[in-house]
Formats: sequence, structure tokens, C-alpha cells
Amino acid sequence: MSEAKRLAGEKAIEYVEDGMVVGVGTGSTVAYFIDALARLRHRIAGAVSSSEQSTERLRGHGIEVLDLNDTGPLPLYVDGADECDPSKCLVKGGGAALTREKIIAEASERFVCIIDPAKRVDVLGRFPLPVEVIPMARSLVARELVELTGGQPVWRQGTVTDNGNLVLDVHNLRIVDPVAMEAAINQVPGVVSVGLFARRRADVVIVGGEPPRVL
Ligand code: A5P
Repeated sequence: MSEAKRLAGEKAIEYVEDGMVVGVGTGSTVAYFIDALARLRHRIAGAVSSSEQSTERLRGHGIEVLDLNDTGPLPLYVDGADECDPSKCLVKGGGAALTREKIIAEASERFVCIIDPAKRVDVLGRFPLPVEVIPMARSLVARELVELTGGQPVWRQGTVTDNGNLVLDVHNLRIVDPVAMEAAINQVPGVVSVGLFARRRADVVIVGGEPPRVL
């Protein structure tokens, strides 16, 4: 499977142009993209990173990591996903980086999502849906998620996000209307963000393989 991830990550390099500040996601597929981006480091203006993990990898390659407040809108965001449906709606957050990923996706003109074939689904929800919550609201949000979604939220114990918050993973969902569910979960007090990327979904999906497929 990592070969498919590598092929997807390397294909995404074709979307990088000289002088760009590149938004960079998080995860094992993105790690291949970062390694490939290192070869272009003298041609790009830098990167905006979605996690401490990606920041470390970018800096390790000598790529400058910039603050989104200083860069303004970005031309390109490259990130992985945990699930992708035929409309390019995504479930993300398996690596607990969903909030910063959402911020960078929103700030970017083009969102290129890089996945291995196993991430493609007809209906989102087989992968438990991550929800980042303020610690004091953990139980409240869990109860409301049961009401709202009919799924079973499970606290990802031992995980603290880069923002100091907790993650609930909602199991047993069948998300037929991702835009509506994203909006509904966003309304619950204490929710920082939900790992549904539907309102701002991917523009391009690259499925790793020999050759990679661009959707
Ligand atoms: C990080 O929180 C997630 O959104 C990642 O984008 C996702 O988990 C990536 O998965 P891979 O590690 O399989 O690329």
C-alpha cells in the first residue's frame, strides 16, 4: 500500500509551480509528497504546514515553514484523506490534524487530495468520523453526536491535538448527505471542527497506482 501512497505523493508535485507557497497536509501519503517537494525547495517560496509532524519533516528537508497569517491565500494545498467519496467529499482526521488541515484547505485556491485506492468509498462513514472537541465539552458533545448522527462516539484516549484539544471518533455512520452533517456537527458548542471535508472538498483527487489516476 505504501507504494500506492508514494506514487500519489509524487504525482502531486506536478501541481507545484515556481515561487508558490504550498499548503501541506499530514500523514503517511503526504510524507512522500514532502520528500518529493524537497527536490524543488529552491524553486518554491516555502510551505504552510498543518501539523507539528509535517513541520518537522519540511524543516528537515530545508523547506521554510511560513505562518498562514503572513502568506494570505494559498494557490495549492496537498493533503491525504481517510476516505473519499465520488463527489470528492472526504473524511479526514485519522492523524488528529483535522482543524489545521481544514483551515489551510479553506485558505487554498486548489485542494489536491492524494490517496491510495483503499480510501475510495461509495458512501462515507466506514472510517470513524473524527471530531475535535474542547476538553470540558467532551461528554456533552458525545451525547449530542449520538442524537444528531445516530453513530457511536468513542473518545480517542491518549490523543491531544496540536491545539490542546481532544478527539471523538464517531463509529457506525453512513453519511449520505456530508454537507448537511458537517454543518450540523459544526453547530454543537464545544466542537472545534469535524473531519468531514464536504463544503470545502477536494478539487482534484490523485489515486496512487501504476500509473496514478487523476479524478
Ligand atoms: C490527518 O489528520 C488526516 O487527515 C490525514 O490526512 C489522513 O489520516 C492521511 O492518511 P494517510 O496517513 O493514509 O495518508
